[in-house]
Amino acid sequence: MIEIAPSILSADFAHLAEAAEAAIRGGASLLHCDVMDGHFVPNLTIGPAIVASLRKAVRVPLDCHLMIENADEFIPAFADAGANWISVHQEACIHLNRTLELIRSNQCKVGVVLNPATPVQALGEVLDIVDYVLIMSVNPGFGGQKFISSTLEKVRKLATMRAARGLNFRIEIDGGIGLDTIGAAVRAGVEILVAGSAVFSYGDPAVNVEELLRAAHDATLVRA
Ligand code: DX5
Ligand code: ZN
Repeated sequence: MIEIAPSILSADFAHLAEAAEAAIRGGASLLHCDVMDGHFVPNLTIGPAIVASLRKAVRVPLDCHLMIENADEFIPAFADAGANWISVHQEACIHLNRTLELIRSNQCKVGVVLNPATPVQALGEVLDIVDYVLIMSVNPGFGGQKFISSTLEKVRKLATMRAARGLNFRIEIDGGIGLDTIGAAVRAGVEILVAGSAVFSYGDPAVNVEELLRAAHDATLVRA
């Protein structure tokens, strides 16, 4: 099932609920929350308090992408705040298996994320304990960056590994997704498409999500 996950990073934080509601009206079925700590990535964003406020404002699942060190210290707080999906970076977690199990024990969907430079083979030992894999198609830290098209090869490899091992995790992509790139991502095997600036930086978020969903569905008709 194709889903658009608007990244609230590009929304106006003073009007977050309205922005989120507009995106949902357009067909967004989950919301992507980018959590940055100023250490793992060179930017600071939101913490559990904003997630808790958003949880009260909308009903769709909240997909929390943790770009932080020491994730174990914060996972319970995000789960308590109402996160439904939590992903952590392979590059930021020394004891990745333990961290993924901690997400599971907090009753959230378990996700693992790879930076553009990290090969998919780095996930070989954890693919059987995750619900989704998030492939970064930009270097994390900021919205509005250019899509790195070589990351699509990683999506294809991951889909092949999944089939070979009979697993059923979902594949998400994040960074530089817009009307010009969404089709290629879907054809490579992506099901969940994060989009920040393409949803919130211009026009009406509802219309922007509708157009992205339409382009994604069109691409499934010619999926390899
Ligand atoms: C980048 C974040 C992304 C970002 C995407 O570190 O993880 O979720 O908001 O923004 P766009 O869609 O503008 O590339
Ligand atoms: Zn993200």
